[in-house]
Amino acid sequence: MRLTYQPERLRRVSDPRDFGRVAVLFGGDSSEREISLLSGNAVLEALKSRGVDAHAFDPRDEDLSELIAGGFDRVWIALHGPGGEDGTLQGALEYLGVPYTGSGVMGSAIGMDKLRTKRLALALGVPTADFVVLTGPADFELTIERLKLPLIVKPATQGSSVGMTKVERAADLAAAFAAARQLEPLVFAEPWIPGKEYTVALLQGEALPSIRIETPKTFYDYEAKYFRDDTRYFCPSGLAASAEAHLRNLALAAFEAVGACGWGRADFMMDAAGRPLLLEINTIPGMTSHSLVPMAAREVGIDFPELAWRVLETSFTRVPAHPAAARP
Ligand SMILES: Nc1ncnc2c1ncn2[C@@H]1O[C@H](COP(=O)(O)OP(=O)(O)O)[C@@H](O)[C@H]1O
Ligand SMILES: [Mg+2]
Repeated sequence: MRLTYQPERLRRVSDPRDFGRVAVLFGGDSSEREISLLSGNAVLEALKSRGVDAHAFDPRDEDLSELIAGGFDRVWIALHGPGGEDGTLQGALEYLGVPYTGSGVMGSAIGMDKLRTKRLALALGVPTADFVVLTGPADFELTIERLKLPLIVKPATQGSSVGMTKVERAADLAAAFAAARQLEPLVFAEPWIPGKEYTVALLQGEALPSIRIETPKTFYDYEAKYFRDDTRYFCPSGLAASAEAHLRNLALAAFEAVGACGWGRADFMMDAAGRPLLLEINTIPGMTSHSLVPMAAREVGIDFPELAWRVLETSFTRVPAHPAAARP
């Protein structure tokens, strides 16, 4: 059994029974497990409140083959980070023939990698900050010469601001590199952009109103994201209509560039000239009640249960390649 991606098969569902038996995948074993538990529980409750036959499924504790044994018709993936958001799970589900929400194997895998996302974005005309790949101390001098200080060092495939450091003095680059390198081999630097931060949620091929994020911390790090109550969010973000339309188009183009689909989020920093620069895309962004995608959805009258429902609808684009072989 194999699935194909057929975007034209996306459909609006009005009867919860049309979804069949649904597994909400959350938990997992990535460093973002705690956030996934929050997202997954919120989605599970939301789907149940709308009459969907939804059940919790933690891939850390249960083998994916249980999805078949359990007679599940589709899954809502609420896992963040490697092993859930990076295409590997999506590949397993393709092989099992279980339709799933959101991006496929390729979009998920590329979206997980900020460096490859930037390269593709550039190739397609979506502006993103300049960058230098850091392989070791031999790269430090050139990096500072080219990007100037301050700059930011990032591991390519971590989420939730893990392993990222702002570097203000040349002497601190080595420690920042070591911190990122400890997490993964692929590390890069980009110039520090002092401007405002925006994020755009995407749902079923459309961009939702942008959100502006303000934090009193140096940047929007793990703590600011999940634990502080002084991080401020503005939606509508305050952009003029033309700038808002431009930003939304860039978000759609960024998604297109990496082959992501269904739903997600694109993060941007605005440079001094008012030009939005793509930071990254998220193919399975947070879905807690305080998360950004639900915030943007609310702005256009889509409440949390409706959002969880619409995301579930995206699973209809995953269709068995050989319908005759479909399970009864
Ligand atoms: N080049 C940059 N200049 C200034 N701030 C940045 C830059 N890159 C990232 N940040 C800050 O760090 C946060 C996390 O970066 P991001 O690339 O979105 O990674 P992730 O959200 O996966 O951790 C951003 O939300 C932003 O606040
Ligand atoms: Mg981000």
